[in-house]
Amino acid sequence: MNAKANAIPNNSDQPKKRNPKKVDAKKINESDIQPRRMDFEFDPAINRYWFADDQFKTILLTALSSTFPEGERFFVRSVRHYQNALTSKKLKEEVKGFIGQEAHHGNEHEVFNAFLRDKGIPTDIVEKFVYNGIRWQEKRLSPARRLAKTCALEHFTAMLAELILENPEFIEGMDERLVPLWMWHAVEESEHKSVAFDVFQDQVDNYWVRTSEMAMTTVEFLGFTIFHYIQLRREMDDKTDWKAVRSGISWLIGRKGWLNQLRPAYLAYFKRDFHPAKRDKKHLRDAGLKQLAKMLNKPELAQGLPH
Ligand SMILES: [Fe+2]
Ligand SMILES: [Fe+2]
Repeated sequence: MNAKANAIPNNSDQPKKRNPKKVDAKKINESDIQPRRMDFEFDPAINRYWFADDQFKTILLTALSSTFPEGERFFVRSVRHYQNALTSKKLKEEVKGFIGQEAHHGNEHEVFNAFLRDKGIPTDIVEKFVYNGIRWQEKRLSPARRLAKTCALEHFTAMLAELILENPEFIEGMDERLVPLWMWHAVEESEHKSVAFDVFQDQVDNYWVRTSEMAMTTVEFLGFTIFHYIQLRREMDDKTDWKAVRSGISWLIGRKGWLNQLRPAYLAYFKRDFHPAKRDKKHLRDAGLKQLAKMLNKPELAQGLPH
């Protein structure tokens, strides 16, 4: 697999080569947000429908994964714009941690997306679309709006991350060789969920910009996720599994569907005194890290955690 061969150019730090044995334990900033370098390699024997052999669930999460590399680089640029203006030493250090974590997520998902492309899921189509779409938006949005959009999308990723950490049944049936990728990403999304928000409050602090951008971003997120799903499916060589589509829709938006369960956390964003850290999920992250340490046989990942 030549995972990087067709990667879209970017200016983020690229790991030079895959080194799955190594976890970088060195502190790169003076905050609690430390990037954990992973260098995942994916077993070619993994099925195309890696999520519970389910076409709908697999393509849905693949659509999300295809947006991550460029999406996360957009988050980094949006936050970096304000980096030098920050006066809080603590927040400056957290921003370094945020940038490092997102850079690694983008790189790992790029490799994962290339792996899925080799399995016949055309993730490159979505990656290119997102690359162009983000550049189109970046030309039109002010720095404050770009940061507000980042905060909104970070709220979505934190909700999804904590859903995975809190409800292991959500990822039930996922190929166990892929659970570490999603678990690692979930832990770090929850860990840095306040950083973009704190930069926004420090530098922009505008309720209307924050919430109107959330409303706009919600429509875009739902619409584009469906669109990316269709982009992937229409280029694939097999038939649509309508049974999986029907059960997948009720899995998401049925009476006990996962999206319905996220409603209170979503609506909380519109409160004037909202702050991501009000949902304290450290215990879930600690449990996630312990599980990750066990799955990857890397005890250093759980170092210093309460027993
Ligand atoms: Fe991320
Ligand atoms: Fe993030």
